[in-house]
Amino acid sequence: MASTILELDDIQSGVLRPRPTPYAATYVLFRIDDAKAGRELIGRLSSVVASAAHPTSPASDTWVSVALTFQGLKALGVPQASLDSFSPRFQQGMAARAKFLGDSGESSPEKWEKPLGSLDVHVVVTAIARDTEHLEAAMERARKTYRELQGVTAIWRQDCHVRPDEKEAFGFKDGIGHPAIEGTGLPCSNPNERPLKAGEFVLGYSDEMGDTPSIPQPEILGRNGSYVVFRKLHQRVAAFRQYLKENASSAEAEELLAAKMMGRWRSGTPLALCPMHDDPALGADPARNNAFLFKQDDPIGYKTPAGSHIRRMNPRDADVAGVVSIHRMIRRGTSYGPSLPEGVLEDDGVERGLMFAFVGAHLGRQFEFIQSEWMNDSAFFGGAAGKDPVAGASDGTGSFDIPRRPLRKRLQGLPQFVVTRGGEYCFLPGLRALRWLAELKT
Ligand code: HEM
Repeated sequence: MASTILELDDIQSGVLRPRPTPYAATYVLFRIDDAKAGRELIGRLSSVVASAAHPTSPASDTWVSVALTFQGLKALGVPQASLDSFSPRFQQGMAARAKFLGDSGESSPEKWEKPLGSLDVHVVVTAIARDTEHLEAAMERARKTYRELQGVTAIWRQDCHVRPDEKEAFGFKDGIGHPAIEGTGLPCSNPNERPLKAGEFVLGYSDEMGDTPSIPQPEILGRNGSYVVFRKLHQRVAAFRQYLKENASSAEAEELLAAKMMGRWRSGTPLALCPMHDDPALGADPARNNAFLFKQDDPIGYKTPAGSHIRRMNPRDADVAGVVSIHRMIRRGTSYGPSLPEGVLEDDGVERGLMFAFVGAHLGRQFEFIQSEWMNDSAFFGGAAGKDPVAGASDGTGSFDIPRRPLRKRLQGLPQFVVTRGGEYCFLPGLRALRWLAELKT
C-alpha cells in the first residue's frame, strides 16, 4: 500500500504538531470592517505561521495559527462561488447549530459571552508559547502588526494554559489520546490502533471512506486546510466535587467514581489497564497510558463503563453502532481561569474551564456526530437514557451506569458540570491559501 505523501510544508503547524508542556496560549478574535485591511492582516500573519514541515516558528519561541469563520471569508471578499463551496455547516456557524450540539438552556447562544457566536467574529488567531512571559512578548510584537491597521479590530482575547501536570480543571490529566495519521511521521499514542487516512483531518487527501471528498474551491484555497471548532466550556468544579462526595462513601470511593465517569484515574492511568487502583507511573508513561482496546478484554464495561467520557469519545474496537474510524478528531484542550483550591466544595463564582479545540476535515460526521450521538445520547452502545457524565449537556434527569457484578450501579440525576460559553466553526487554511487570501483583488 502506497503511503500518503502529505504536503507538510503547506499545512499550518498547529494542525499536526505536538505542543510543548507546559505552555501558555491565547485566542484573539478580530473583526474586519475593511476588506483591504483584512487582507493586509492575513498577509502579515501568514509570515509568522510555521508549517508542519518546519514547526519552528519564525518568531522562534511562539507558534501562531490563523483561522477564519465563514463571515471572515466574506469580509475578506472571497468570491461567492468559492464561499458556496464550503461545508454548509461551516457556512451556518456554530450558534446556528446549537440544537444539534446540545447548546440549550444556560448553554444557548443567547447566553454566550459576547462576541462569540455573533457575525462580528472573523479571524481567530491562536498563539502558543512555553510560558506567559514569552507569550506576552510575542503578543506585543503581534499588536504592532494590527494596531496601525484601520479597519481591523481585535475584539476578544482569551488567555489559557496547560499546567506542568497537564491537568484540566476537574483534576484529570488531559491531552493523552490522539489518533495516528498516515504521512505525518508522528508516533501513535495507541500502538493497537492503525494510523488513519490523512483525509480525515486535512482536506485534499483520501479518507477512511475510501474517497477524496470535494474541497472548498479554488483548489489553492481548500487544499491542505482543515476545519477547526473552538468552544469555551465553563467547568463547574465545585458541583463536580460535591457530586462525587454525595455519591461515594469514602475518599477512595470518590476517586473510583471519578475514574469511572472519566474512564481514567486523575493521573491519566486508564481503568482498562488498572481497574482497581491508580498507578501514577503508568499514567505518566506515554508508551503505556493509551495502549489498550475494549472489545476483547472488557466488552461489557466492567472496567471502563461504556458511558464514561473516554469510551464515548473513542469507543475504539468496542461493539457500537457505526464505524468508529470516521468519527475521530485531533483535539487540543487548554484550561482558562484559576484552579479551584483543593478541597473547596462551594462555588466561588470564578470563571474557569476548557478552551476545547477540534481539528478535522468533516464538521458533520466528526465533531457534530460525536457531540450529538456519542456525548449527548447513549443509543450507540445500547445504554439507558443518559449523557456523557463529565461533559454532556445533562439536565438532571439522566443516569450513568457502572457495570459490576452481581448488579450494576446506576447513578441518577446527573447535573450539568459543563456549560458552553460560546464558540465558532472556523476554516484553517494552508499556507499557500493564506497568501492567496492576502492577495485577493475582488
Ligand atoms: C470541559 C469539558 C471536557 C473535559 C474536562 C474533558 C476532559 C478529558 C480528559 C481528562 C480526557 C482523557 C485524557 C486524554 O485522553 O487526553 C479526555 C479525552 C477525550 N475527550 Fe474530552 N473533555 C471535555 C470535553 C470534550 C469534548 C467537547 C469533546 C468532543 C466533542 C471531547 C473529546 C475527547 C476525546 C476524543 C478524548 C480522547 C478519547 C480517547 O481517545 O481515549 N472532550 N477528555
